[in-house]
Amino acid sequence: MTQALDIEQLRSETPGCAISTHFNHSGSSLPSNTVLAVVTEHLQRESLYGPMEAAANAASQIDEARADAAGLICATPAEIAFSSSGSAAWGLAFAALPPLVAGDRILVGRQEWGGNLSTMQAAAKRAGARVETIPVNEDGSVDANALAAMIDDRVRLVALTWLPANGGLINDAAAIGKVTKAAGIPYFIDAAQALGQLPVDVSAIGCDMLKGSGRKFLRGPRGAAILYLRKAFLENLEPAYLDVLSSTWGEDGPNVRSDAQRFETSEKPIALLLGLGAALKHARSLGVEAIRHRIRELSGQLRDQLGAIPGVTIHDLGTEKSGLVSFTVAGMAPQTIRSKLAEKRITIAANGIPYTPLDMMARGLNEVARASVSYLNTTDEIDRLCDNVAALVQQAA
Ligand SMILES: Cc1ncc(COP(=O)(O)O)c(C=O)c1O
Repeated sequence: MTQALDIEQLRSETPGCAISTHFNHSGSSLPSNTVLAVVTEHLQRESLYGPMEAAANAASQIDEARADAAGLICATPAEIAFSSSGSAAWGLAFAALPPLVAGDRILVGRQEWGGNLSTMQAAAKRAGARVETIPVNEDGSVDANALAAMIDDRVRLVALTWLPANGGLINDAAAIGKVTKAAGIPYFIDAAQALGQLPVDVSAIGCDMLKGSGRKFLRGPRGAAILYLRKAFLENLEPAYLDVLSSTWGEDGPNVRSDAQRFETSEKPIALLLGLGAALKHARSLGVEAIRHRIRELSGQLRDQLGAIPGVTIHDLGTEKSGLVSFTVAGMAPQTIRSKLAEKRITIAANGIPYTPLDMMARGLNEVARASVSYLNTTDEIDRLCDNVAALVQQAA
């Protein structure tokens, strides 16, 4: 039984809800008053008492944020590093893997985030290695059985974007994890759209690395992200660079920390991390199960209503779907839909090929409009969005 969320109360604590009809929670959601206050109050303390001195006083709250990040995904605090963005976190972990050599293979899901894919492609090209796409099931999700058939002793990494940026698909991350675990191959998960939207248990999934940004469904401030590295896995990773936090200077040179903070630097945005901490506490107090329940209901409703408008096509793959709803309107480019809705203070996104290149190209899509739903949205807002899309369909005809 999940707790019912008091949506009116939650919206009243979120100033952005009064300004616009926000359907871009997967790009960046609306922070609460509390998150805003935590960030700005720390910046004020920095200016009054000195940033280093203010940070020393905030140390236990940063520890709490780390514990809450761990709690959110059923990990331990020693397995959590903070980073500036999801992509930076992913890149740090990738760069710490043993170098690729000619003939090595990396297997990726078809919906892999474009940034991760570029990082892998560039490294593979330098080494003479290959990045290969795992086939998909009929519903568009990454096929774990097909992955199992691709495994050989040259596979160095399996990378999955759990919930892609270009629509409602939820991949079966645990099914992929079973295959990688049996084969003893490192398994990286991009959970950018999952954190704060779906319950996450890293042990049940069987991943070695998982990352996500704080600004999306968690509703934290921009510029803060969470990197999970499984304890036994991280001990064998060699960070691309070190500093005075990630290592100490010993007689024989640097001694690298044993925990995930080997991927952090001493200098960090304390105000943002405190804001992320407040957002994590809030999400956990609401309960991610309850959040998931509401997002499922609202996004299902949005999909049904949008899909019923003649001239609108829904592009979401998968069986069980996330809060990201992707669509196109006959005769109108997604960027035009986005900007016309913005004139009415309705915010959505438009995604081109670069965010999910393999999937977009495989499906012959150049761009989709994306409306992403948070628990903060209401059925009135869904009606408003759909009425306005219907009006755009008329204009395009
Ligand atoms: C699946 C996925 N991965 C990665 C990112 C990028 O994350 P960041 O901007 O924090 O690097 C996004 C952003 O939309 C995303 O949807």
